[in-house]
Amino acid sequence: MTTLGTPLSPSATRVMLLGSGELGKEVLIALQRLGVETIAVDRYDNAPGQQVAHHARTITMSDPAQLQALVEAERPHLVVPEIEAIATPVLQALEAAGVVRVVPTARAARLTMDREGIRRLAAETLGLPTSPYQFCDSLAELQAAIDAGIGYPCIVKPVMSSSGKGQSKIDGPADVQTAWDYAMAGGRVGPGRIIVEGFIDFDYEITQLTVRAMGADGQIETHFCDPIGHVQVSGDYVESWQPHPMTPAALAESRRIAKAVTDDLGMGHDGQPSGLGLYGVELFVKGDQVWFSEVSPRPHDTGMVTMITQWQNEFELHARAILGLPVSTTLKSPGASAVIYGGVDAHGIVFDGVDDALRVPNSEVRLFGKPESFTKRRMGVALVHDADVDVARTQAKLAASKVKPRKA
Ligand SMILES: Nc1ncnc2c1ncn2[C@@H]1O[C@H](COP(=O)(O)OP(=O)(O)OP(=O)(O)O)[C@@H](O)[C@H]1O
Ligand SMILES: [Mg+2]
Repeated sequence: MTTLGTPLSPSATRVMLLGSGELGKEVLIALQRLGVETIAVDRYDNAPGQQVAHHARTITMSDPAQLQALVEAERPHLVVPEIEAIATPVLQALEAAGVVRVVPTARAARLTMDREGIRRLAAETLGLPTSPYQFCDSLAELQAAIDAGIGYPCIVKPVMSSSGKGQSKIDGPADVQTAWDYAMAGGRVGPGRIIVEGFIDFDYEITQLTVRAMGADGQIETHFCDPIGHVQVSGDYVESWQPHPMTPAALAESRRIAKAVTDDLGMGHDGQPSGLGLYGVELFVKGDQVWFSEVSPRPHDTGMVTMITQWQNEFELHARAILGLPVSTTLKSPGASAVIYGGVDAHGIVFDGVDDALRVPNSEVRLFGKPESFTKRRMGVALVHDADVDVARTQAKLAASKVKPRKA
């Protein structure tokens, strides 16, 4: 049985979000609606989630000492990582000592914070299909890996990076040096390792949102959302839609892979099933063949479409699941999302045309409230529902294009 308290009182159920961007903001809103006391942490002040939480804290989350001091001072019941760049060994130690529960588990946060932990788990431990890959620490190792079997074309990514940063495709020998240099410049923690992956010539890619939630009998159940299709440009999502049509065989294989990965990531430090929460499993599909790409043990950016397509969106599903509450992944309507970029580098920008965007039938707009805009920074998203998912895609892009960010 789940018992929830009263915020700002001794009985409060207290949840700390590590990372308070647009995804964290929606999780925080979902928690607020359940009367949970929320602590929004980010690396800069006035992050989107900090604007809707009871408490805002600004620290460097990759700094073990700062993270440990904050968790020990606040003593939340739950710590919810919302980004990858966190000092996860601290979370593992605090979880093992029984100080906090980490969502979904500290081990999952650790394994997914770089590409190596999760790729080796999926391919080598669980035997799931992935692209061929090698980890390399030098240009010479990269060239050797390509020559020894990865071949051309292939993709190079820093082990520590997200949203396509430092990632590039190699079509032939002439591109190898450039790709290496680009990866070294784009990694999250300075020069380091890369993964080189054989290029998968997929028909389409999906995000399989997968929820581990408590059933009425006290057993953890796995629920699947309808598949989300998406388009990535330079490794960054620009539009997504749900449902994406799939053959029954490809759908079944996608869910087999998603279940295997989330079952493993959901294992607690004591070996007991735990790991409640929502996961975003990224998969490549060609015909009936499916490859595992990566997984977020938290809501996924492409899953923002569920704010208009599901009765319980991915953020509400995450909030419910981590609190031990029941979930439903039922689709409300097909729909689509399209990203609104900053377009300018400036603080405190303004958005013209939100009225025009909202005149697009069946549309909604979310502006994240980020204090600083960059040309390619995601500042908002347009959402449209329609019985025809292709119409929804066209209309979501139209609505997004109506919103015009500019300097104030
Ligand atoms: N081996 C591959 N073959 C073909 N396409 C790939 C491959 N690896 C990555 N991609 C393309 O690049 C995109 C981004 O790759 P990936 O998800 O690994 O990087 P990321 O930086 O973690 O991106 P994000 O943070 O947006 O999920 C994928 O969604 C896919 O479109
Ligand atoms: Mg990805």
